[in-house]
Amino acid sequence: MSSWDKLVVHGLLLAGAMAWTGVLAAGESPRYGFGSALSETEISSWDIDVGPDGAGLPPGSGTAAQGEALYLAQCAACHGEFGEGVGRYPALLGTRASLVGERTRKTVGGYWPYATTLWDYINRAMPFGNAQSLSPDQVYALTAYVLALNEIVAEDAVLDAHTLPAVRMPNRDCFVVAKGPDIKAAACMHDCAVPVKVVGRAARLDGATVGE
Ligand code: HEC
Repeated sequence: MSSWDKLVVHGLLLAGAMAWTGVLAAGESPRYGFGSALSETEISSWDIDVGPDGAGLPPGSGTAAQGEALYLAQCAACHGEFGEGVGRYPALLGTRASLVGERTRKTVGGYWPYATTLWDYINRAMPFGNAQSLSPDQVYALTAYVLALNEIVAEDAVLDAHTLPAVRMPNRDCFVVAKGPDIKAAACMHDCAVPVKVVGRAARLDGATVGE
């Protein structure tokens, strides 16, 4: 191909690229000039997290009595009729006593610090294999049922976006905020590592460990 031909081909490619850019620049993303902005509906279907203070909880309500039938139909097969857990599926019933000893168990009743996390978890992930199939009312009712199994709320307690964040979990005060390094303090950048003195080396020769 002659230099002239190459120039023509390059020119065509450049024109094509510019044409594409022109088309895409007309798209909805003003920053990068391609793709399209997400609609509110698309964002809201992903934006489902619920904070410890209840931020993100939707309208709706439920009681343990309302959740019982649903729990027995959709949850008990794995978590047990009383939340005791079936086989290797996790128990939802427990006290802080199960956090002591060699084989500790972290349960909703014994370990979880916030009741709102239970709402978030059930809403996001349960029933296992059919996640996000429950309505907000159903999730409130199931949350109430699991909390009532653990004797944290009464069977007739109405849980909603206001009452659920006010539920105090038994293990709430046993969590501490871990203190990380003070990143605002000036880094010293000298003598950072503790010096280590090598006192010997080992090599594996014919199955025998030989010290140096
Ligand atoms: C097919 C079995 C199955 C069914 C049915 C099921 N779950 Fe679960 N559930 C699981 C498994 C497995 C986990 C652990 C998942 C993990 O750790 O990733 C779990 C975890 C949980 C937890 C967190 C437990 C913890 O302490 O970590 C809660 C709460 C829960 N499920 C509630 C429910 C509710 C409410 C229902 C009914 C709507 C339900 N599950 C139905 C299998 C099931």
